[in-house]
Amino acid sequence: MPPAFHAAARALLSDPLTNKGTAFTEAERDRLGLHGLLPPHVGTLDSQIARRRRVLDGMADDFHRYAFLRELQDSNEVLFHALVQADLPRMLPLVYTPTVGAGCERFSEIWRKPRGLFLSHPNRDRIPDILADPALDRVKVIVVSDGERILGLGDQGAGGMGIPIGKLALYTACAGIHPAEVLPILLDVGTDNAGLRDDPLYVGWRNPRVRGEDYGGFVDSFVSAVTDRWPGVLLQWEDFAGHNAHDLLARYRDRLLSFNDDIQGTAATAVGTLLSAIHRTGASLIDQRIVLFGAGAAGSGVAELLVQALRAEGLDEAAARARIWAVDRDGLILSDMAKLTPPQMRLARHPAEVAGWMRDAEGGLGLLETVRAVRPTVLIGASGQAGSFTEAVVRTMAEGCARPVIFPLSNPVSRAEAHPADVLAWSDGRAIVGTGSPFGVPGVTQVNNVYIFPGVGLGALAAGATRVTDGMFMAAARALGAMGGAGETLLPAIENLRSVALRVAVVVAAAALADGVASAGDEELTEARIAALMWDAAYN
Ligand code: NAI
Repeated sequence: MPPAFHAAARALLSDPLTNKGTAFTEAERDRLGLHGLLPPHVGTLDSQIARRRRVLDGMADDFHRYAFLRELQDSNEVLFHALVQADLPRMLPLVYTPTVGAGCERFSEIWRKPRGLFLSHPNRDRIPDILADPALDRVKVIVVSDGERILGLGDQGAGGMGIPIGKLALYTACAGIHPAEVLPILLDVGTDNAGLRDDPLYVGWRNPRVRGEDYGGFVDSFVSAVTDRWPGVLLQWEDFAGHNAHDLLARYRDRLLSFNDDIQGTAATAVGTLLSAIHRTGASLIDQRIVLFGAGAAGSGVAELLVQALRAEGLDEAAARARIWAVDRDGLILSDMAKLTPPQMRLARHPAEVAGWMRDAEGGLGLLETVRAVRPTVLIGASGQAGSFTEAVVRTMAEGCARPVIFPLSNPVSRAEAHPADVLAWSDGRAIVGTGSPFGVPGVTQVNNVYIFPGVGLGALAAGATRVTDGMFMAAARALGAMGGAGETLLPAIENLRSVALRVAVVVAAAALADGVASAGDEELTEARIAALMWDAAYN
């Protein structure tokens, strides 16, 4: 065999998009010069899945399973996705939350092969050259992070790359976006995590975070380079710290097809799940008294979508806002507080309202005091503060409400506002509970953004949308809320995520059309036409 031929065969095996491992047939081995490079056994996708499952079963913990799956993804994408797709309930927690948290924290240990792009501040003038790579010609969906607020784990610097990689694996697994069409990107602007900067093994840029105009200019040149290279691309912002998350969304949502999953995806997921819960209690949305704990990116996004949903029920803006109380690190958000973010200002209550309220020992109005005064029917946590839904908070809420809806959404498990089993015990089993991470408690719903973002992305792409509108997220939330789940759970089972994504995509595409941002016509946006766009992991 001439050496050049062997080099091509090796290239085929080392590219995860072309490698089939032992599943290359005899005929392919003849034609492509693969004999000798592969063991003699000719396998199938099914036998490969069975082999990988046996390896996963024998591993000591989920972090090692995560690392193993990452390596598999980098050596054979079809096999990786077929394995994930075949058992979503088991694989989702391994490739995404909660295990991806450890994957980010220990990213420097497990980085092996290039996947996606690291765009670092020192390379800021090279961004267009880096994006020019012809291997990236097919890109349609980008997930980008700067690693500053990874789940509830804070600043993980370059290790934040685990999040775009994980989210895009779910785009493929759930919405059938082809692996060659997705691109994870990490904007490495340094890290303020001194532990990482001092760690000799850290693979990121050892510099304090670039801030202010310099940061803005860097992100701007990134977005311009992206839109020059892929004009219709969908750009999803992920795990930016609260202030940047809001600023970047506001700056770019009217310039390209773009959304922030922490703000808008979480909002649609939480509101969809809440609509399903309310449906179960037989009450109506406008009769709810809603307390939000943690008014950052996720919490304020939920609040704004709730305001929209309440307005759609006939309330005016003021009446809609009057049904929501937001508690943040300094207690109930009041309009006379200093240092409120713009989204928090929109949620602030009038100080006169709290004049007669009972205060805590320091004279403050924390969650317990708010729950005591407001008697909420719904409590949503997006604070990243473990244990903040205390027994007293849950018992007080449950005293005033037959079926309290309680969603401790913070991720990962170690940051949840309460353990769902405790919430159930403290409410005598009456609470309707949803958590961000999976806890394995029967009857508890996992309020995971994976119910929304893959379908939003697929719907936006199918519609040839130029923008992601609020109406598209509201449509996604309503569709999710109408799906329901089995038994006590509020959402469909994880194994049905592909049909969930398709259903969401159909309504999102229709909303894009209704909002005048679609380029495709009505006839292209039927369920069958959108389903036909979804890639299934199989060798061809
Ligand atoms: P963020 O950092 O923007 O917001 C956190 C907010 O909590 C901030 O406003 C902060 O001031 C507030 N906070 C901090 N300490 C507090 C305290 N002691 N009491 C009250 N509030 C306090 O972060 P983001 O993006 O909003 O995420 C928050 C949490 O929500 C994270 O743990 C994240 O994993 C989780 N999350 C869950 C999702 C889901 O379940 N589907 C989706 C997105 C986020």
